[in-house]
Amino acid sequence: MNADSTRAKSIEDQDKRIEAALEKIKHRIVVFSGKGGVGKTTVAVNLAYTLLKQNNKVGLLDADITGPNVPKMTGAEVSPQVLEEFGQIIPHEQNGLKIMSIAPMLPKDSPLIWRGPLRSGAICQFLADVVWDELDFLLADLPPGTGDEVLTAAQKMKPQMAIVVTTPQEVSLIDCRRAVNMAKKLDIPNIGVVENMSGLICPHCDQQIDVFGTGGGEMMAADMKVHFLGRIPMELSVRQGCDAGKPIVLEDTPSKTSEVFEQISGNIDKILSE
Ligand SMILES: Nc1ncnc2c1ncn2[C@@H]1O[C@H](COP(=O)(O)OP(=O)(O)OP(=O)(O)O)[C@@H](O)[C@H]1O
Ligand SMILES: [Mg+2]
Repeated sequence: MNADSTRAKSIEDQDKRIEAALEKIKHRIVVFSGKGGVGKTTVAVNLAYTLLKQNNKVGLLDADITGPNVPKMTGAEVSPQVLEEFGQIIPHEQNGLKIMSIAPMLPKDSPLIWRGPLRSGAICQFLADVVWDELDFLLADLPPGTGDEVLTAAQKMKPQMAIVVTTPQEVSLIDCRRAVNMAKKLDIPNIGVVENMSGLICPHCDQQIDVFGTGGGEMMAADMKVHFLGRIPMELSVRQGCDAGKPIVLEDTPSKTSEVFEQISGNIDKILSE
């Protein structure tokens, strides 16, 4: 066997393992956006825990290989268990959520300087060799933009849904339209838009301040004929929860954001059961 055919065989074997893993996962969702910093990881983490609270078995794959933030935002800064003998990886479980991220395996503060094929390879391995087992939902938190990771996740995960996160401001909406069109091109059957950072309720006077505007995401979703899933306000406690590794939806105190995440998960359920 020459080098080319050995490589082709190992890709074929990996694809088979991915297929076997996916058979056990009912719903697969990718979370992405055209723009950085709009709240993809915040949405992925809080949505994963909302679905978990509704008695689903949920996994969260941190597919942002060079900027992995899921461990920080969930407090899951623990390496997964690697079973070398079997070529398997056991994901770390944090408050019942199965999490796979490259972050805990990297030395602190060191950059991961990997070109696209290596990053895509890592995502494939997370799908093929991580023991996700039976899941109702597997969510993938993707990096910003429409690059290699989005392509790999869409091709290998075969997601039934893409969630595109945007802020209501024009500069994010422009990039969000590209992301929606990418999801359409990739034939992801259901596309939903989440508008994040939609208005800030002033803690002093209770008035809403539209820092980034409001309503733009919903208008864009209608215009592009895709689903609108919900509008998440800016809340201090959301940011504090992210920084402390305690997602806001796990807090006992009710919040507007937790309420919205329940609406979003209800909308997703409805769309996926249609
Ligand atoms: N609704 C919100 N209210 C308050 N803070 C928020 C909200 N959504 C996100 N944030 C904060 O904004 C910052 C960016 O969010 P996040 O990291 O989720 O964005 P991202 O799109 O995943 O970024 P990247 O493109 O770097 O992956 C974080 O500090 C997060 O805590
Ligand atoms: Mg992120």
